[in-house]
Amino acid sequence: MAAARGPRPRPGVLDIAPYVPGTSALPGARPVIKLSSNETPFGPSPSAIEAYHAAAGDLSRYPDGSARPLREAIAALHGLDPARIVCGAGSDELLNLLACAYLGPGDEAIYSAHGFLLYKIAILARGATPVAAPETELTSDVDAILACVSTQTRLVFIANPNNPTGTYLTFDEVRRLRKCLPSDVLLVLDAAYAEYVRKNDYEPGIELVTGSPNTVMTRTFSKLYGLASLRIGWAYCPPSIADALNRIRGPFNVSGPAIAAGVAALKDQSWSQAAMEYNELWRGGLTESFAGLGVGVTPSAANFLLLHFPNGDGRTAPEADKFLHDRRIILRRVEEYGLPHALRMTIGTEDENRAVLEALTAFMSANSAARR
Ligand SMILES: Cc1ncc(COP(=O)(O)O)c(C=O)c1O
Repeated sequence: MAAARGPRPRPGVLDIAPYVPGTSALPGARPVIKLSSNETPFGPSPSAIEAYHAAAGDLSRYPDGSARPLREAIAALHGLDPARIVCGAGSDELLNLLACAYLGPGDEAIYSAHGFLLYKIAILARGATPVAAPETELTSDVDAILACVSTQTRLVFIANPNNPTGTYLTFDEVRRLRKCLPSDVLLVLDAAYAEYVRKNDYEPGIELVTGSPNTVMTRTFSKLYGLASLRIGWAYCPPSIADALNRIRGPFNVSGPAIAAGVAALKDQSWSQAAMEYNELWRGGLTESFAGLGVGVTPSAANFLLLHFPNGDGRTAPEADKFLHDRRIILRRVEEYGLPHALRMTIGTEDENRAVLEALTAFMSANSAARR
């Protein structure tokens, strides 16, 4: 008897390589240093934790379906219209909803070659065609993106700064991209790491979204605000795009504890300011120290560094990764991003950073000594 045929996903779904998050554990019970997911080393503001606990008293109630208190707090901090903000269960959800609303079979969506992996997944999940634009020096290249535009193009995803490279596009370049893209192409500026950027020529997208009908900026509470586990993201949109997202999102897509903790986190700007300043200090210090070891570092505007290892001599990225694992240190392998010779390191606590430096000093010198 022929086996009964069960339901099949839509064409394209099984072509998706599932997203593999950064490793978070190693065999054995000893603690690990986990620097593989770009989480803040400081955790959330204590007032966010307090608000989260306080929300436990109300778990039987549905949350405010439009996350209004959170949208109002975001709007107040950034000087935005709360009606143009849509909150989501992480910015992941919003990126997926944008793909859901604006892409379908036959459409194309562009992202940069070493762009955040979720874009390709979101595009394929809609039956649309992903188009990877080449980068220049591991940085999104506006001309290369424009060269990929066809009559089928409906959407462009740019992570600015990008994960896993840490590089960013200047506001002038983003503006030029918007100006040269057809007006019916949606430009999504994923600014998950915006808070960490300290560059005069950077702007996360607020100005462009305010002034154009076809650009969206997404942000997250998972990085600087230390609330990755609560899943909170937001999108700042033109009114018609906010309307489309609000029609298709889950009616209670952000939980009550998440709304409460997010509002409290925004109020404690001194906590996030200190985390930003700490990051800036270590970003510069680590970049210099690694370069001194012969490990290449892509200049980063974010809270992580892309480390480049030699392609041989016992000093490859997989060998460095194993060496670090033996010392209970977990960085992020980035082969799926097309970067087989690199590892991505989140900037951690002082002790964690020093442990990585010490381990890589030993790794690079042990293996260069072995070659002599
Ligand atoms: C560039 C970029 N965008 C979006 C996200 C998603 O963040 P979340 O869904 O936690 O808001 C990440 C997470 O690593 C990221 O690196």
